[in-house]
Amino acid sequence: MTPLLSRRTFLQGSAALGGAFALGAGLAARAGAVPEAQLLTAQLAKAQIAADGVTPVMTYGLGDAVHTHLPPVLRMRKGEPYAARLVNRLDEPTTVHWHGLRIANAMDGVPEMTQAYVYPGDHFDYSFTPPDAGTFWYHPHCNTLTQMGHGLTGVIVVENPADPTFDAEIVLNLRDWRLGAGGKYIDPFKPRDAARGGTYGTVRTANWQQEPVYDAPAGGLVRVRIAATDVTRIYTIGLEGAEAKVVALDGNPVDHPFLLDRLDIGPGQRVDLIMRMPDSEGAGATLGNFRGSNPWTIATLRSVGPSLKRDLGDVAPLPANPVARADLSTAQRIPLELTATAEHTAVPSVCGSLGYTFWALNKVPWPGDTPDPIAPIEELKLGKSYVLEIANRTPHAHPIHLHGLSFRILSSNKRSFLPPPTDTILLLPDEQAEVALVADNLGDWVIHCHIIEHQKTGMTGYFRII
Ligand code: C2O
Ligand code: CU
Repeated sequence: MTPLLSRRTFLQGSAALGGAFALGAGLAARAGAVPEAQLLTAQLAKAQIAADGVTPVMTYGLGDAVHTHLPPVLRMRKGEPYAARLVNRLDEPTTVHWHGLRIANAMDGVPEMTQAYVYPGDHFDYSFTPPDAGTFWYHPHCNTLTQMGHGLTGVIVVENPADPTFDAEIVLNLRDWRLGAGGKYIDPFKPRDAARGGTYGTVRTANWQQEPVYDAPAGGLVRVRIAATDVTRIYTIGLEGAEAKVVALDGNPVDHPFLLDRLDIGPGQRVDLIMRMPDSEGAGATLGNFRGSNPWTIATLRSVGPSLKRDLGDVAPLPANPVARADLSTAQRIPLELTATAEHTAVPSVCGSLGYTFWALNKVPWPGDTPDPIAPIEELKLGKSYVLEIANRTPHAHPIHLHGLSFRILSSNKRSFLPPPTDTILLLPDEQAEVALVADNLGDWVIHCHIIEHQKTGMTGYFRII
């Protein structure tokens, strides 16, 4: 792959707040604290993704302007109200889901379940207060294999004023594109792959670029926020030419930051690294994907200026998020089985159907987004503790994501390191894990595999908290 020209883009993310949009009476009158909403426009555009042609993409822009780059990094603050008006300028219905944010059910973005479809030309007002700081992301929850596959995945940074500051910050949105000659889309999936590990893209990008190069202060400590937003790919992240410490996983700080060796992150997951840049000007450090037998470059960070001579040993744990601890003495246990299912045809849906069913949760395949969904996996009582006994009875990995809640992994037959609380667990083949949570958020919360072909071919269900 051809490395692109380097760009002086560190700290670029903070430009993302431009284009704020004043909303009328509705929001301002209600909260007083939220006088302004960002105008978040879902739109069609063209972008250079492959080397040999321009690709029609879907993206988000802030404000009214035409936007031809990747969706902006949305910046919010822990404990402070945030508002955005989604305007749909696509040619199909859409919604926004705020992946990992523990916010009210009505803001969760799941069509038929938590809100109506937002049709072309229409809008929807989202407003909420993120309770947790960290790296999260946003994407539609409608016709997702197409909408996400064509570009609608963006990173959210929820800042915490109490976080230590670093010498630079780089946000990396990792994803693939299924493109053939001339930058044209090829079939979004192959049924035989959907029934296995999922269908991989052909062009691998970070921030919509192949092997981008970013400059950062030599000898400095750089916070690298990585979000795996691809519809299929599981990455094994590694770093060459420098050292880094893992400080947060899926938005939540780790108790004891540890040196990065190889780290698996599945679709939907995030990792925050503090990377110590090489001392000499021009030296590069390469983030790579080490999964499989042919490692490849994700992005390169290049040292500029005189060395700041920082010490990675000075990196302290980030302040924890307020995730409640489950009471294991009273917790009710709920089995959750991931299985393949006998193939049958799925029902058509406004939000797209792949036309197959290959997967199920507790033997029930999800029928698609319908006004009349299947029963919840279980009704949970507000404030009570639960332990999910998750069993992956398939020979494939599944990144299982739960909306609206965070859970802690208590035990697993496949892992010794237990990460901080998370919204997405990458279940390994044949893994059995126990995860605990407090049902502290009312409403219907979907749980699904974040390999979108699996999600859309049955591996979805929901919990109802009453
Ligand atoms: Cu990131 Cu239901 O999804
Ligand atoms: Cu899956």
